[in-house]
Amino acid sequence: MDKLSQLRKEYKKHQLTEEMALGDPLSQFKVWIHEAVEAELPEPNAFILSTVSENGTPASRTMLLKGVDAGGFVFYTNYNSDKARDLAFFPVASICFLWLGLERQVRISGPVTKVSREESEEYFHSRPRESQIGAWVSPQSQTIGSRQELEDRLEEMTKQFKDTDVIPLPLNWGGYRLQPVEMEFWQGRPNRLHDRLLYSENESGGWKIQRLAP
Ligand SMILES: Cc1cc2nc3c(=O)[nH]c(=O)nc-3n(C[C@H](O)[C@H](O)[C@H](O)COP(=O)(O)O)c2cc1C
Repeated sequence: MDKLSQLRKEYKKHQLTEEMALGDPLSQFKVWIHEAVEAELPEPNAFILSTVSENGTPASRTMLLKGVDAGGFVFYTNYNSDKARDLAFFPVASICFLWLGLERQVRISGPVTKVSREESEEYFHSRPRESQIGAWVSPQSQTIGSRQELEDRLEEMTKQFKDTDVIPLPLNWGGYRLQPVEMEFWQGRPNRLHDRLLYSENESGGWKIQRLAP
């Protein structure tokens, strides 16, 4: 067993000061995700989405960010999945980006709503044809008997859509948009004295920035 207790790394690549931080957290996020893409980090748009089920059990899973705009953070999934069931009951979530190569983390929380069917259509049809068929194949989050079941269903759906140019968007597939209410930017610093800046909405709809202890 590796000596986990002895794994130790100093974070000294960057800093995040109040002077550097942009006034709007969405702009600050765009700078950081752009830098994560430029640094060629693996899956820079991957994040952890945490939801809470009807009986209070939290669940986290990795997702891919497919857009960020003034309304918030957009991701796509199966509307019959466990996360969708959670979001139907508690339409709020926490998402967390980890960019270890830059020693950065961003935590975001807020209400979640479904994107319009038109917006889902536009994204769905921009995906590779095989991924579009994949959305028809997988009953995400349900128990299945075997891998073969998926393979058989893929074959069946591929046959079914053989003469179809535009694969229709399944009714149970689409996007969500998380509208940020709080966003925390974390930058690793030496001696575990990291920089943490928390943006929260103020009464006038703008943002206030507070420094949190690491
Ligand atoms: C790198 C990575 C990216 C993923 N991206 C997505 C995604 O964008 N949408 C999605 O539905 N599942 C995605 N998944 C799978 C989810 O983590 C999860 O297994 C699935 O959505 C079912 O979650 P649920 O049963 O909690 O609803 C991704 C997994 C990984 C490891």
